[in-house]
Amino acid sequence: MATKEPFYITTPIYYPSGKFHIGTAYTTVIADALKRYKSLQGYDSYLLTGLDEHGQKIENIAKSQGKKPQEFVDEMAMEAKKIWSIMNIEYDDFIRTTEERHIKIVQDIFDYFMEKGDIYKGEYEGLYCTPCETFFTETQLVNGKCPDCGREVHEMKEEAYFFNMKKYAQKLLDYYDTHPDFIKPEYRKSEMINNFIKPGLEDLCVSRTSFEWGIPVRKDPKHIVYVWLDALTNYLTALGYGSKDDSLFKRYWPPAVQIVGKDIARFHLIYWPIFLMALGLEIPKTILVHNWIVMKDGKMSKSKGNVIFPEMLIEKYGLDATKYFLLKAVPVSQDGIFSPEEFVERFNIDLCNDLGNLVNRTVGMINKYYNGKLPNYIGQVNEQDKEIELIIVKQKLEFEEKMEELQFSNALTEIWEIISRCNKYIDETAPWILSKEGERKKLSSVMYHLVESLRFVAVLLQPFMHETANSIFEQLGLTKFEYKTWESIERFCNNIENVTVTPVGKPLFVRLNKEEEIEYIKNQMKKA
Ligand code: ME8
Repeated sequence: MATKEPFYITTPIYYPSGKFHIGTAYTTVIADALKRYKSLQGYDSYLLTGLDEHGQKIENIAKSQGKKPQEFVDEMAMEAKKIWSIMNIEYDDFIRTTEERHIKIVQDIFDYFMEKGDIYKGEYEGLYCTPCETFFTETQLVNGKCPDCGREVHEMKEEAYFFNMKKYAQKLLDYYDTHPDFIKPEYRKSEMINNFIKPGLEDLCVSRTSFEWGIPVRKDPKHIVYVWLDALTNYLTALGYGSKDDSLFKRYWPPAVQIVGKDIARFHLIYWPIFLMALGLEIPKTILVHNWIVMKDGKMSKSKGNVIFPEMLIEKYGLDATKYFLLKAVPVSQDGIFSPEEFVERFNIDLCNDLGNLVNRTVGMINKYYNGKLPNYIGQVNEQDKEIELIIVKQKLEFEEKMEELQFSNALTEIWEIISRCNKYIDETAPWILSKEGERKKLSSVMYHLVESLRFVAVLLQPFMHETANSIFEQLGLTKFEYKTWESIERFCNNIENVTVTPVGKPLFVRLNKEEEIEYIKNQMKKA
């Protein structure tokens, strides 16, 4: 296949306001899985992440720690890179909005919008939420508080620059209409239309004078560029847009998928495409808005003592189990709940019982009945063989469909369908009886079908659980590159030959003691 077509994926750039908990890590974990999946399929995928380092919120945190903002964000950038390295995130670039390559272009863009008349000077009077750096109108508030974070807002008045959003409102609606893949899942589109566009899109205030930590407007430097105009532009500046070397921009623009959490949907689904229209640039093909990982008692927060950091889980249960939980936890249309009980249950049932045991039993049986050497394919011998062959190919197609829709949790479910069908296949064919009764043909066919099914499972798991997939390949003796490729699972492969499984199976996951581990995770949460 090897299309080598460009496929540009972005995560939001994070606020460097503290350690990333499992919720914040979620966006990047799915972005990484998508990148690996697209690379496996032969795309030239490129993943961008980074930090959103300007704004009053950052200025305040740095001050409260007795640090200069730059010193503070430098430390946070190191922390962010450390966690992405622990999580083995395969990003291609990490942009920081305090970098020169970004600042200059943001100023150029602001100048350009001013020259074009899209940005004009006015006066802003309104209700401002400092942590979210956003002005709201009275009607947008929820119970008198910020609709995004629920905190107090306060009156603020200042001379400011505005972006003429109204001018683009109809164009945006037309764009939504003619590009059904632009917003995923689809229900987010009606939310934008009904809550923000239909009631009348306000012009957006795009500069501030109340603080200094940001990018000055070049022609009027007491004004600082609004942090969202600054931040959104990162997706362009990271590719060298507007700079001397814009080869990456030429190659990768427009983004294939931009991933954002539900709280920042409005910025990405309304302001961002409008900025791009104003720049005369192509709009991203898809923006995926995902739901959140929450706790049983609501949002994760230090004060509630319910925060969980990825490092805690990775250290004790491994990277793949942690990633599996995160990827599986959030269904498309609702928030996913993290609970220690659910984590341990998924670990024991999905990973140990279903997947781990299947690999272990298969390796064990090939050792026991065939001295570790996989018999060659001899056709559909058992009555279930045909069905198994059809199912793995069908499940692979279902998996692909879910991935096209960016439904990661459902895609994993499709893989687990193969796993549970294989476990049932072992029970139905009862290889121990076939062995006792000397049914060698039937027995060897069961072994072949199990290995081929597990090969499909391992190929499909590669983007999500890299180490686990590798361990399956290794234990089954499927070390040749050609057995691991996307092309190799286009059809049932009947010519796997000269394959020897490892003499002793290595458990992929070791069963957890339920009570002990639930207690352990709860304690970790209290300590956080
Ligand atoms: O919003 N579950 O940065 P951020 C899932 N700087 N996702 C969650 C989550 C949870 N519990 N909590 C947070 C920003 N997130 C801006 C972005 S982009 C030009 C600027 C997600 O650090 C959140 O939805 O507050 C967002 O996608 C990401 O973490 C970073 O959030």
